[in-house]
Amino acid sequence: MNFDMDLENRIMDPAELPEDLGDSDNPLRPKILQDYIGQEKVKENLSIYMEAARQRKEALDHVLLYGPPGLGKTTLAGIIANEMGVGLRITSGPAIEKPGDLAALLTNLNEGDVLFIDEIHRLSRAVEEILYPSMEDFAIDIITGKGQMAASYHLPLPRFTLVGATTRAGQLTAPLRDRFGVVLRLEMYTPQELSSIIKRSATILNMPIDEDGALEIASRSRGTPRIANRLLKRVRDFAQVMSNGVITCETAQIALDRMEIDELGLDSNDRRMIEALIKFYRGGPVGVETLAAAIGEEAVTIEDVYEPYLMQIGFLNRTPRGRCVTAAACKHLGYDLPNAEKGQATLFND
Ligand code: ADE
Repeated sequence: MNFDMDLENRIMDPAELPEDLGDSDNPLRPKILQDYIGQEKVKENLSIYMEAARQRKEALDHVLLYGPPGLGKTTLAGIIANEMGVGLRITSGPAIEKPGDLAALLTNLNEGDVLFIDEIHRLSRAVEEILYPSMEDFAIDIITGKGQMAASYHLPLPRFTLVGATTRAGQLTAPLRDRFGVVLRLEMYTPQELSSIIKRSATILNMPIDEDGALEIASRSRGTPRIANRLLKRVRDFAQVMSNGVITCETAQIALDRMEIDELGLDSNDRRMIEALIKFYRGGPVGVETLAAAIGEEAVTIEDVYEPYLMQIGFLNRTPRGRCVTAAACKHLGYDLPNAEKGQATLFND
C-alpha cells in the first residue's frame, strides 16, 4: 500500500497551490477590511491600530499573524498595505537564504511599506540576526570582505512594517517574537462565515449558487477559506455538466461525495490517519513521530495540516503522552471504541 499523501486529495490541502492564484491579483482576495469576512476580533483591533498609525502619520507597528494555514494571513497583509496606502513586498522564510537577500529586500522598501514574510519561523539564524536591528532601529550593519579587506557599513532603512506569518508561533525565537508590537491569532471559520465567503466568491466568479449549496460546501471545507474557494470551483464543474449550472445542495453533495470528502470535510488522508490510530495503536496515546512513520507522512504535516481541524471538531486530543482519538471520531468512522486498557478508558471519553 502506498501511504504517500494522495495527490488527488491536494484539494483539501490548506497549503497554497498554484491554482489558488496566490498572487495579489487573485480577484477572490478582499482588498479592504470591510470585505474581509470573519476573524471579528482581529479585524476590530487591527482597524484601531491602523487608524491610530494613520492619524499619527506613522508606519504601523510590526504585526505577527499566526494560526493554521489557509485562513487568510497573506490576504490580511494585502489589506494592511492597501488600507495604509503603502506598497507590499511578499516573501517567505525559506526564500530568504542569506543575510544579503534580506538586506536587498529591506533597502529596496519605500517609507511605510509592508514587508510580508510568510513562514517566518523558517528564517535561518543568520538572517534573523540582521532582522532584529532592522525591526528595532530601522538600520542594518553590513560587513563586506574578509580579514584586512573587511569593511562595515551602517545603512539606514525606511520605516517599514514587517508582517510576519506563521503556523507555529511557539517555534519563533523569543527575541523575534518580542519585536512584534501587534500579535494576532487567526481562528478557523464557522460554516456560516465560510458560506458567506463562498457566496461572495461565487458572485465575483459569476457562478449561480443557492443558500443551501453554499452551506453544504462550507460545512465540508474544514474551517478554511482557501479550501472553500477550491471546492466551489470543483463543484461548479459538476453543476455545469450534470445539471443546469446552478450550485444547489444536491449538486454540492454529489460533487463532494464523488471527491470523497465526507459531511465533516474529512478526506481519505484524515480517515487513514484516524484509522491507523484506532487499528495500530488502539486509539492512542501514540507519539506524533510514531504515527507519522506508520502512515508515511512528515510529523509537521500531521501537526500543521491534519491535526488543527481534527482537534477543532473534537476528533483528536493532544495529550502529554501522545495523540488520542475520541469516541466521536470512532463513531464517525464506524468503529467500536478500541478495547482500552484500564486507566486509558478516560482518554476515549469526549
Ligand atoms: N477569501 C478568502 N478569505 C476571505 C475572507 N476572510 N473574507 C472574504 N473573502 C475571503
